[in-house]
Amino acid sequence: MKLVKVKDYQEMSQKASSVLLELIAKKADPVLGLATGSTPIGMYQSLIKAYEQETVSFKHVKTFNLDEYVGLACQHPNSYHSFMNEKLFKHIDIDSGQTFIPDGTADDLVVECQKYEVQIRKAGQIDLQVLGLGLNGHIGFNEPGTSFSSRTHVINLMESTRLANARFFDSLDEVPTQAITMGINTIIESKLILLLVSGEKKAKALARLLNGEVSEEFPASILKRHPNVIIIADEAACREYGN
Ligand code: GLP
Repeated sequence: MKLVKVKDYQEMSQKASSVLLELIAKKADPVLGLATGSTPIGMYQSLIKAYEQETVSFKHVKTFNLDEYVGLACQHPNSYHSFMNEKLFKHIDIDSGQTFIPDGTADDLVVECQKYEVQIRKAGQIDLQVLGLGLNGHIGFNEPGTSFSSRTHVINLMESTRLANARFFDSLDEVPTQAITMGINTIIESKLILLLVSGEKKAKALARLLNGEVSEEFPASILKRHPNVIIIADEAACREYGN
């Protein structure tokens, strides 16, 4: 894992977007794995800016999102479908038929997970997967205890994760109790992984990732076994890591 320390959220976002832009510029058919949450919003803004300045087109880009809440229709304002539309897709020239997000309202969720795996496989391999870091070390929605060999699956969200995400909803009761998430093995098959970590509240999790052991109790620790991981973390997030 390569740790790139930056000053603040803005620098993290710019650096992250430049990694994506470089790939989009050099590859004829780039496949991006995208994340939701507060962390990547600045990166998306930076990508939109590049598009508006006409330095990039997304017409040839295919995207796969990490996860979606179970029970929220695509149009629901808190669905990750809506998040991606609002924060990125509607502002750029990407083909909506090339943006994939699991359907959390599918009649058969198991079949939906299998379908998602097939779609990823058909695209070849994810060239670059963007990840945020959950407070408990989750990646995507793979909560502690999830098998490292997991593929896209339905997960029961931990109370702490629901609480952490409740800020996006009117009340905790409205936060779904389940999600569909790419599995850890699915994520780890990406060629390059870009983990973004910002803010003091992530400092403990980042320190555990950098100093701790590889364990299913801390899902992000699997990244230590991947040959090509870049962590971009700001000063506040590095506070507990030390050097
Ligand atoms: C959510 C998402 C993750 C995200 C994490 C951190 O639960 N499913 O993909 O990385 O939380 O979110 P944030 O960036 O808001 O701290």
